[in-house]
Amino acid sequence: MTVLCSIHDLEDSTSKGFASHVGPVFAVKYDGQIFVYKNECPHLGVNLEFQPDEFLDSEGQLIQCSTHGALFNIEDGHCLSGPCQGDYLTPVEHVIEDDQIVIPK
Ligand code: FES
Repeated sequence: MTVLCSIHDLEDSTSKGFASHVGPVFAVKYDGQIFVYKNECPHLGVNLEFQPDEFLDSEGQLIQCSTHGALFNIEDGHCLSGPCQGDYLTPVEHVIEDDQIVIPK
């Protein structure tokens, strides 16, 4: 099990990266909901972020890969444009316990 952070540590339309027992992951808060994905671009398998905790495009509306610019829906990880168009980010099972985002074992 890995505790990522409190849901209150994430502002809306922001993201944070974490090490976890299932490998590197990141969490996004969007429209008050939390989404967690593996930090792995479906194109080349590399980490996605531009800078630590920067996984989103400049408007905070889509997840963007820093390597070749692929854009992904925050809600389902679907790649909308870029070299892996049509592929998906890998969602990470998680629960919210006492306002903490937790990846169970
Ligand atoms: S590695 Fe992410 S778009 Fe190419």
